[in-house]
This record gives sequence, C-alpha cells and structure tokens, in this order.
Amino acid sequence: MTGNDPIDTSKPHPARVYDWFLGGKDNYPVDEEMAKQLLALDARGPDMARVNRAFMHRATRWLGTTGGVRQFLDIGTGIPTEPNLHQIAQEVAPDSRIVYTDNDPIVLRHAEALLRSTPGGVTEYVQADARDPEAIVEAAGKILDLNRPVALSLIALLHFISDEDGAHELVRRLLDPLPSGSYLVLSHATGDFDRRSADQARELYQQRALTLALRSREEFAAFFDGLELIEPGVSLAADWRPELGEAVPVPGDEPIPGYAGVARKP
Ligand SMILES: C[S@@+](CC[C@H](N)C(=O)[O-])C[C@H]1O[C@@H](n2cnc3c(N)ncnc32)[C@H](O)[C@@H]1O
Repeated sequence: MTGNDPIDTSKPHPARVYDWFLGGKDNYPVDEEMAKQLLALDARGPDMARVNRAFMHRATRWLGTTGGVRQFLDIGTGIPTEPNLHQIAQEVAPDSRIVYTDNDPIVLRHAEALLRSTPGGVTEYVQADARDPEAIVEAAGKILDLNRPVALSLIALLHFISDEDGAHELVRRLLDPLPSGSYLVLSHATGDFDRRSADQARELYQQRALTLALRSREEFAAFFDGLELIEPGVSLAADWRPELGEAVPVPGDEPIPGYAGVARKP
C-alpha cells in the first residue's frame, strides 16, 4: 500500500463531495463548489449522506448478529467517517475481518483510520477500482477465507458506474467466487422521485466528465437477481430495518431518494 498517487484538486471527486456533505474536512474548494451546486438542486444532500451511513450501520449490525457474518469486503469505502463499517462489525463480533477498498487516492491517504482493528480481528485496505473485480477478489483472498461466507458491500458506489462500464456484471464477477451463505449489501441513489433534479445533477457530473448513473427501483433490484433478499427486500434506505439503529431525522415528507437492500447468496 503506497500513498504516492497525486490528489487531483482540479476537479471534484465523489469521495470528497460526500465528505463535505458529512461535515468532514477532507475536501477541497472544487468539491465544496460541486456540493453547493447539488444542494441548490436538492437541499437534502447532507440528509441523504446521513441516511445512507445509517443504513450501512444497521445492515452491518444485522449481518454480524442475525446473519452470523465474520468477514466483510467493502468496496467504495470512502473517506473514514466514524463509526466505520469495521467498528460496527467488531463491536458485534471482535474477531470480524474486514477488507476495505476504494480507488480514490485521498481514501488511501486516510486509510490508517480504517486499520485500527480489534486485537482479535483484522482490517486491511486495498487501493483498487471496482471495475477490476478479479484484482479485488485476489487481494481480498489474501486476508479473508473465501471458502467461508463474506458480506460484499458496495454502498453508495454503483451510481458512479455506468451500464457501459458494466455495473451489473461487475457485481456478478465479485459475487461468483464467494461461497453460498455470502451476502450482497447495496445502496444506490435514484431519480425516481424527482426527474428534473436528477437530470440536472447528471448534467453537473457530465460537465466535469464524471458519471452519475441514477437507477430506477427496477434497475436497482436487478443487482440482486438470483439472490434471496432479506426482509424488507428492496426499500428506501431509510426504511431498511429502522429498528436496528439510530433514527435519522430528515426534513419534510418527501422520500430521501436512495434505495437499499441486503440479499443472501443461495
Ligand atoms: C458516496 S461515497 C460512499 C462511501 C461509503 N461507501 C458510504 O456509503 O458511506 C462513494 C465512494 O465510492 C468510491 N468510488 C467511486 N467509483 C469507484 C470505483 N470505480 N472503484 C472504487 N471506488 C469507487 C469513491 O471514491 C467514494 O469513496
């Protein structure tokens, strides 16, 4: 693991825009500018980020308890924001082993915060691109036992990967080498509730040569084809087993536009 990749401050990066929404300090003026333009389209950007983090916390708690999972492969981890996935997993089961990956050099720079494991568990960070699933599985296989179930999570990541870049196929290629009893955990932004803002947001990304692939509920559900969805199935992120975690107050009655789901590989 090296930290020598340059950090490009000439254009916004999704990890840093998200960090700005979460009130973090690991972002630059270009990221803040983009975040503010997104806020002008929908003022609930920070609420979306918090609702998404809270889904990750609840899903990880469910996986560590009811799911009995002790191995986690998290792709598109983001800039560390406490509690991180390993802190939840190891609170439930201190022997949990976690591999984090992201392709943004800024995440690598901050990876030491992701590596503070419990003594009985393991955390590791791998710099990798989700569009190269075989490299990720190979690296993960050095830390995780791929003969035992793994919770594979891509949380708020797939809307940055287009169909042309094979978003659905890459999930298959990540899941294929994992054994029966593994889980897939996903969340994803959608334009289902406000097409106009969604189109404008896509335009903002396009102007900066970035992908924003907002998917419908049906397109999101297709990521789980062939798997057994855990109750309540595909839902709004805010509605996925709210009893398992902290309530996230959001303004107004309109849904926060993000879907989530957890499914078991048969
Ligand atoms: C919105 S953040 C989500 C962070 C975290 N998973 C969460 O939900 O709190 C999206 C993350 O996906 C990462 N990402 C985007 N495209 C990626 C790719 N092709 N390969 C790996 N990571 C990617 C970004 O760098 C960013 O850290």
